[in-house]
Amino acid sequence: MPSLVHVNDDRGMIFIIDPIMKLDIDVIDREHAKLIEIINKLNDQLQVKVYDQTEIDDLFDQLIHYAVEHFFTEALLFKEIGYTGADKHNAQHEALLIELIELKAKKVKMIEILRFLVSWLNTHTVSEDKLYVEEVKAHIAKKMVPKAGIEPAA
Ligand SMILES: [Fe+2]
Ligand SMILES: [Fe+2]
Repeated sequence: MPSLVHVNDDRGMIFIIDPIMKLDIDVIDREHAKLIEIINKLNDQLQVKVYDQTEIDDLFDQLIHYAVEHFFTEALLFKEIGYTGADKHNAQHEALLIELIELKAKKVKMIEILRFLVSWLNTHTVSEDKLYVEEVKAHIAKKMVPKAGIEPAA
């Protein structure tokens, strides 16, 4: 299973995107990278001996906020291309958001929540996100570039 790889450096563990997770749709790849960036910030904060709970909560809020934004981009894209798997895909996004919020409310350790999220992202990106790529490319090939300006990577 391709994955976000854990790497040790002087900051401790970081998460990076395996090239196989790239979809070659610029806006989506950029948003996935931004999600990983927030995950790394949160993870960095958890490596500190006495960590700042306010900072952790702030980063978690940022993560949820950005995930909502990203899922909105994908939902918009599905609408524009008339993606056949839209309902199923959007439902998965929604279920994830609910799960994350519930885990936080149950006071599950943040590192566990991060592990769960990274594992979800691995599976979702390589199995579900990849499914819409062909339909997006076929759409672009018909020169019907979606209004959101979603274009293939150069
Ligand atoms: Fe995605
Ligand atoms: Fe998705």
